[in-house]
Amino acid sequence: MAPNIKEAKKKLDQIGYLNIKVDPEIDLVAEINKLKKEKNAVILAHYYQEPVIQDISDYLGDSLALAKKAAQTDAETIVFAGVHFMAETAKIINPEKKVLLPDLKAGCSLADSCPPTEFKKFIDQHPGHIVITYINCSAEIKTMSDITCTSSNAVQIIESIPKDQPIIFAPDKNLGKYLIKKTGRDMLLWEGSCIVHEAFSIDRLLELHQNHAKAKIIAHPESEEPLLKTAQFIGSTAQLLKYVKEDSAEEFIVATEAGILHQMMKEVPNKTLIPAPSNEDNTCACSECAFMKQNTLEKLYLCMKYDAPEITLSEEVIIKGRRPIERMLEIS
Ligand code: 13P
Ligand code: SF4
Repeated sequence: MAPNIKEAKKKLDQIGYLNIKVDPEIDLVAEINKLKKEKNAVILAHYYQEPVIQDISDYLGDSLALAKKAAQTDAETIVFAGVHFMAETAKIINPEKKVLLPDLKAGCSLADSCPPTEFKKFIDQHPGHIVITYINCSAEIKTMSDITCTSSNAVQIIESIPKDQPIIFAPDKNLGKYLIKKTGRDMLLWEGSCIVHEAFSIDRLLELHQNHAKAKIIAHPESEEPLLKTAQFIGSTAQLLKYVKEDSAEEFIVATEAGILHQMMKEVPNKTLIPAPSNEDNTCACSECAFMKQNTLEKLYLCMKYDAPEITLSEEVIIKGRRPIERMLEIS
């Protein structure tokens, strides 16, 4: 277990977090809004969060927009309704601020697929490469990176690197393959992936498309190549949202985590939005990120009330991890 997670857990034990019972009569939304003012806090939420959390947030966005907001805020506390690597990024940019994550279990399979010791070996085995890492990685991986990117700006970041400069791209092999095709750059890929975006079923998707022949398939680039081949548009969550607003089609099959549909439905209530089917035999037959869904309204309230779990990082990680993030923010 990473030392910062151990420390955050210790504080939870000290306050007896597991035994705290929330009064079921309490108006959580009103209490959260009260705490926000009292603590000069800002709530940043990702599109994959539960609708109720999206609606109470001060800023809702994709990974890039949220990193930018984290860099600009003058709030004293940042409550990150997202996953661990996002909260870590906010802490790296704002070491003097308190950064809270409603549930420490809100991790990421993609970030976990790139363990620091192995990644260090991989870099050492390939000297002379510039290291571009997708923001979905741990703070420690960021300390080994030259530049960070998100799915919104990855093409732009890659194109900012001189053509003769060899590149290592990590940790997402699916996004990496997509970017190799898109930019024509031959990059060395780390073999990581997101369990949510790899869970889509091509067979079920094609069957669904047969019944909705006019629907456009749109997909997140963390998805696998065969699925991306079926898509008429590929982009980050924010780009997918923009596309459904601006494109003239009336029906879309959306291949990314199903949380994005909440905002899409709010912005284009007259269009038909269908979540792409997953292999999982779950009740809604769509893909949900179990990590993102660890956060609940109740946990959001508790983390603001008790200032825990708090994200802490060593000074060394903050100093080394800031460079690649700042470089990304300067370019995009
Ligand atoms: P974006 O919102 O940047 O597209 O990222 C998607 C994702 O997987 C976040 O975990
Ligand atoms: Fe990580 Fe995938 Fe969940 Fe995003 S959707 S947080 S990449 S596991």
